[in-house]
Amino acid sequence: MVGSESRYQAFLDARRREGLRRFLNQVAARDARTINVGGRCCVNLASNDYLALRFHKALIRCAAEWAEAYGVGSGASRLVTGNLDLFAPIEAKVAKLKNKPAALIMASGFQTNAAVLQALFDKAVLGAEPTVFTDRLNHASMHFGCQAAGARELRYRHCDAKHLGELLSQHEQDERPKFILTESVFSMDGDVAPVGEISHLARAYGATLIVDDAHATGILGRGGQGLSGDADIAIGTFSKALGGFGGYVASTETVRDYLINRCSGLIYSTALPPPVLGAIDAALDLVPSMDAERAHVAGLAQRFRDRAVAVGLSTGASTTQIVPVVVGSPETALAISLRLRSAGFWAVAIRPPTVPVGTARLRLAFTAAHEGSDVDRLLDALAEEDVPRQASAMLNS
Ligand SMILES: Cc1ncc(COP(=O)(O)O)c(C=O)c1O
Repeated sequence: MVGSESRYQAFLDARRREGLRRFLNQVAARDARTINVGGRCCVNLASNDYLALRFHKALIRCAAEWAEAYGVGSGASRLVTGNLDLFAPIEAKVAKLKNKPAALIMASGFQTNAAVLQALFDKAVLGAEPTVFTDRLNHASMHFGCQAAGARELRYRHCDAKHLGELLSQHEQDERPKFILTESVFSMDGDVAPVGEISHLARAYGATLIVDDAHATGILGRGGQGLSGDADIAIGTFSKALGGFGGYVASTETVRDYLINRCSGLIYSTALPPPVLGAIDAALDLVPSMDAERAHVAGLAQRFRDRAVAVGLSTGASTTQIVPVVVGSPETALAISLRLRSAGFWAVAIRPPTVPVGTARLRLAFTAAHEGSDVDRLLDALAEEDVPRQASAMLNS
């Protein structure tokens, strides 16, 4: 028995009582549209593989070829075993896609946020403790990076540039470095931050703007470049619309050089393996020309929202491929999710602490693999449900 096991058990018991216990559901997936859950084939509405690239032949071929040619592992950190010659061309493609002078890739998006933010907010390097203005619904990995740096976080109301402006103005005389940190598309709400307005504020108050473009890269913006064009530093992941795995940061050459020298997640972690790099490389070649897929996904999400709202469901402020159906309590979200599974849909319940208390929801993600008939059948199944209509009010409280 592990020393503190009774404490861990007590935590699990409390989570179960509150309807918040999590489980790893065993599933099998053999294509981008469906998923087999407990022997039942369901339409997969829980994947962030927005462009259905995960099973794309070009990615699979390149991953297999690079595994054959360069091995399945990379051996050590990029600084230790040497920077494989595969990295430079990929980083040049990322920089081009993100329209920034330079890019650096590393392990997962979570690790990139955790380690890059820790490095960027290092008070010893900055000469003073920075103030980080963060959207209150930013992803856990962004808070993790702030905490790891010991940075002071000032949270502004979700997507509220006016509130951000007020906070910045209150700290105008403060000489310490200022950063603004936001997602572009919010992962649990599918709404879009007012990045243009925020960037004006950043310039007016001398703050550095960092945008996590995880859910926009590949699927939104011209040629799939995402929505971080106005950011000083763009962060993101290859694990969502790009179908593979890995994280990136795109900014200036100086920021890239600094991170190579200070970012623990790059320095002390084994480099991404060649097959993963192969998939990233192939995805980066495909993404700019996938306007038809982007339009298809946008159309599916709009079709769902239009009909869902017409029958009184709340899809919050979603305007993207991510559409929440807010139901309120964790128990209700779990019950609906289970019944949808019986009806052939894999739509997971997202509960606190991932989302604020009272806003448990089904998080639906539409992808290029879905068809209009999937959306219509899903709406028919949801129409059978007694979804609490007032739950949506909690979103903005
Ligand atoms: C906004 C945001 N940033 C970062 C991540 C982490 O990316 P990854 O899954 O590659 O670790 C996620 C994933 O859920 C996310 O939603």
